Amino acid sequence: MAITREQIHAMATGFQSSKIILAANELGIFRLLAGKGMNAGEAASALNLDKEACGMLMGALVGLNLLEYKRGKFHDAPNVKKYLGDDSDEGLSCIFRHMNHLYASWANLDAVVKKGRGRVKKASELLSDRKINSDFICGMFEVGYPTAQRFAEETDFSGVSKFADIGGGPGVYPVKIGEKHPGINFVIADYPNTIKVARRYVKKYGIGKRVKLVNCPFFDTGELNIGDGFDMALLSQVLHAAPDDKAKGLIKKVFGILRPGGRIVINENARNDDAYSPPPPLVFAINMLIQNAGRTYTISELKGWLKESGFRKISARRLHERSVLVEGTRP
Ligand SMILES: C[S@@+](CC[C@H](N)C(=O)[O-])C[C@H]1O[C@@H](n2cnc3c(N)ncnc32)[C@H](O)[C@@H]1O
Repeated sequence: MAITREQIHAMATGFQSSKIILAANELGIFRLLAGKGMNAGEAASALNLDKEACGMLMGALVGLNLLEYKRGKFHDAPNVKKYLGDDSDEGLSCIFRHMNHLYASWANLDAVVKKGRGRVKKASELLSDRKINSDFICGMFEVGYPTAQRFAEETDFSGVSKFADIGGGPGVYPVKIGEKHPGINFVIADYPNTIKVARRYVKKYGIGKRVKLVNCPFFDTGELNIGDGFDMALLSQVLHAAPDDKAKGLIKKVFGILRPGGRIVINENARNDDAYSPPPPLVFAINMLIQNAGRTYTISELKGWLKESGFRKISARRLHERSVLVEGTRP
């Protein structure tokens, strides 16, 4: 069906409601109003904000059905406390703080398209700034846990006791797999800032003793140096952040740490082989472009890279629009 004028208008002006939600989340408005009512003056002084501007922002949130206004006070609307009222692992507040950090870079999109990749200064440092990294990584837990849950439930883990999660971020896969499979021990390899966040999660979910956290700048090391003889190694949402040669190089390094018969699993926001579906990886590729990072791949490209690296019994299955699992076995 042809797109309507109203649909085009809603898409193009979506940045306004997006920024209203992201700013309110960043400023702590949803957390402040979780389960209690306040007028604009009370909220502004509790959060150290300008009273007029705070009142207008809360008014806009009423317009977006995220707050309600009753008898002179603003209250959270149904469900808002659950998703934005605190930093629960199933909420959305970390990932929205991460989106707010990305917002300034997205404003550069036209300049990036004019000048080309890497020619426009990035607006924030996702990996090196401790606070920005922490929001990014806890956001990865929030968005990753439903997929990690399915992965833990639907994957055959027979013969797996030693599992490497490379670029494991918050450790959401070890947490979900570890809950279901008590015989598996894990190595999570990542940057030092990220490891601090992962340590919190694996402890909180009671698998701390089964997880070794290793500082490993894996795209840049000659070898992985995280141990070997692994039964399974996961690269979840990692490859798209690097140029092709480094992504392929990492797959080769993973081959080296698996035992014969060991399996690699790549989880990526991958495109179908027609290259232009489904929508999420096409939009996500722009997120990589503005950060001067990598790109998104087709399923066949990923399968081809596994074959080139020596893997066999290669297969792929799409879990949902943002997740394709590509698997191979070391002969
Ligand atoms: C998008 S997150 C994915 C996290 C996790 N695998 C998941 O699916 O939830 C990418 C992870 O790769 C890590 N990372 C990216 N480049 C890296 C590098 N060069 N060295 C070490 N870690 C890196 C980041 O710190 C982050 O934890």
